[in-house]
Amino acid sequence: ERAKLLNAIIENAIDGIITIDEFGIIEHLNPSALTLFGYERSELIGKNVSVLMPQPDKARHDQYIASYRDTGQRHIIGIGREVQGQRKDGSVFPFRLGVSEVKFSDRRIFTGFIHDLSRQKEDELKIKSYT
Ligand code: HEM
Repeated sequence: ERAKLLNAIIENAIDGIITIDEFGIIEHLNPSALTLFGYERSELIGKNVSVLMPQPDKARHDQYIASYRDTGQRHIIGIGREVQGQRKDGSVFPFRLGVSEVKFSDRRIFTGFIHDLSRQKEDELKIKSYT
């Protein structure tokens, strides 16, 4: 039925999808997110989403979320941004991050949509180096 269909859509999405609680703790990842960052699901559930990013954001991300909780001021939610992710092997890659806030049975969670930009960035570099 409907819940199963929605689950199938998320599980098969090309973009990575990650949900966190309001303290940044990872609750769910789809297979694309695991492939992009090079982890197994069990290694990330319950971890802080900051494990997926390089410094300086890694050290600041809790504060980003806390200041959103305090002020309601959005910097990425509903806007999106190009950011850097860090894979398990330590390598860094660019992606387009979209974040939405979901109020779900008197709880608040955040959903992150991760659109890998490594290919586009490599192509841009190739084009630039021709000139
Ligand atoms: C805020 C970086 C992943 C949820 C921010 C901000 C930055 C950032 C720079 C603050 C922007 C500012 O104050 O100007 C990153 C990086 C990520 C990442 C580098 C790489 C993995 C995620 C994911 C989620 C998420 C996957 C959700 C599942 C949030 C929330 C805020 C935030 C809720 C506060 C609200 C807002 O500023 O609109 N992040 N983030 N982030 N991020 Fe992330």
